[in-house]
Amino acid sequence: MDLKDKIVLITGSSQGIGRETALLFAKEGAHVIITYNLSVKKGEEVFKECNKMNKSLLVHLDITDEESIKNCIEKVIDEFGAIDILVNNAGVISWKNLIEQSNKEIDLQIDTNLKGLIKMTRAVLPFMKGQNDGIIINISSGAGKKGYSGLTTYCGTKFAVRGFTQAMIQELPKGIKICSVNPGMTATQMTNFQGVNPKKVAEIILKTAKEEIKSDSLGDVDVWKFSFDSKVSDAVFGAKKKFRGIFGKEK
Ligand SMILES: NC(=O)c1ccc[n+]([C@@H]2O[C@H](COP(=O)([O-])OP(=O)(O)OC[C@H]3O[C@@H](n4cnc5c(N)ncnc54)[C@H](OP(=O)(O)O)[C@@H]3O)[C@@H](O)[C@H]2O)c1
Repeated sequence: MDLKDKIVLITGSSQGIGRETALLFAKEGAHVIITYNLSVKKGEEVFKECNKMNKSLLVHLDITDEESIKNCIEKVIDEFGAIDILVNNAGVISWKNLIEQSNKEIDLQIDTNLKGLIKMTRAVLPFMKGQNDGIIINISSGAGKKGYSGLTTYCGTKFAVRGFTQAMIQELPKGIKICSVNPGMTATQMTNFQGVNPKKVAEIILKTAKEEIKSDSLGDVDVWKFSFDSKVSDAVFGAKKKFRGIFGKEK
């Protein structure tokens, strides 16, 4: 699929995987909607870079807030009149055993990683259905395929994203594609910058959108299967020993 002039909304594109994905899509000629929640300056930087390549848009978006989702979609439709691709990327993590997690930390992970992603999907559907065309890429995780101690709530949300995706595959009309892209450990703020370069993950997201990579029958695209650097490619969340070493929070 040619991404030129496609309208691409990426949640959580102020930094990390979302940032690199925004830059790659812009390079392909897409109009990217960069969204930030707390990191205004980082969002502005990404917007400036993308806007140099093609007309882009910077929007504040808190996916835990229904009004914010509504405002964001309205702004995109006012500006571009369509949404062709949604990358549901925004996410948070709490690296703690469950007994140490506060209610606030549990709620934030579920509200962002799962409920926010579901509500974003619902919000774009009327526009994609109207044009009977669209792609939704949900960012799940290696921790959405296997459970890891120290990541209990996070794993719960990421498994649920894959369940949601599998059910949506059956519910959506043929013109609208949906899948889960599952990165392994990636070097962003979320992992204290340990793991695969987020640019490499962004390349897989881009290839998925271009339909150069097809998801498997369950809707999964496992990033580590398209390995680039053998040293870090197996640093999926599965590298538990290494994970403990890096984060040192598991007792
Ligand atoms: N890093 C990894 O090892 C890894 C592995 C597998 C899957 N993933 C998944 O990949 C996605 C991106 O993670 P990352 O590693 O790039 O993390 P990151 O660098 O911490 O970036 C997270 C992004 O999500 C945004 N965000 C957080 N809460 C939000 C909210 N309530 N509303 C809207 N945006 C919100 C942040 O925006 P602000 O900064 O503007 O607040 C930021 O842009 C996440 O879904 C994560 O679970 C990451």
